[in-house]
Amino acid sequence: MSALLNNVPRYRRMVERDLDAIMAIENVIYPHPWTRGNFRDSLREDYHCCVAEAGAEIVGYCVMVCAAGEAHLLNLSIAAAWQRQGRGRDMLHYLLATARESSVQKMFLEVRPTNLAGIALYLATGFIEIAIRRGYYPAHRGHEDALVMQLELV
Ligand SMILES: CC(C)(COP(=O)(O)OP(=O)(O)OC[C@H]1O[C@@H](n2cnc3c(N)ncnc32)[C@H](O)[C@@H]1OP(=O)(O)O)[C@@H](O)C(=O)NCCC(=O)NCCS
Repeated sequence: MSALLNNVPRYRRMVERDLDAIMAIENVIYPHPWTRGNFRDSLREDYHCCVAEAGAEIVGYCVMVCAAGEAHLLNLSIAAAWQRQGRGRDMLHYLLATARESSVQKMFLEVRPTNLAGIALYLATGFIEIAIRRGYYPAHRGHEDALVMQLELV
């Protein structure tokens, strides 16, 4: 029974003491990870910062900012050992439900064109590509473009 419950994601607000666990995940799953300062700033700005837990373990986290009827998804991450088990999709749906509760009409995000997993997840959820931001991300050599994607929530 408890093993079964551990498979049901539980979402709660991120707090500063989560940042050690989050940074340990972040540094593994991204070639160009967010810094601890990026997460601290998001917490201070009172963005929607959330963790997903399985038992006591943080298995994923996300950061979203909502303003003026628009949501911007800034970070959506699943720990390497927990990927490809439906948790990213589940977290995205959780964020969409949260955004709808805040009367959001459109959600935006940026994703690297090389991030095939992320793009597949967003396309499968109904996001469409609306623009390219040239040289948006740091890369091993120079910079990489970002695809800007949008989902209408109404
Ligand atoms: C992208 C990410 C959030 C997906 O989360 P996940 O829990 O692994 O994905 P899910 O198991 O929920 O898969 C949902 C859908 O995403 C797509 N997907 C996920 N991983 C994929 C992969 N490695 N290759 C291709 N498609 C993939 C598929 O469409 C999948 O649906 P399917 O299982 O029916 O084929 C996760 O891989 C991750 O955290 N990656 C590193 C951080 C990152 O890139 N975040 C997004 C930044 S914009």
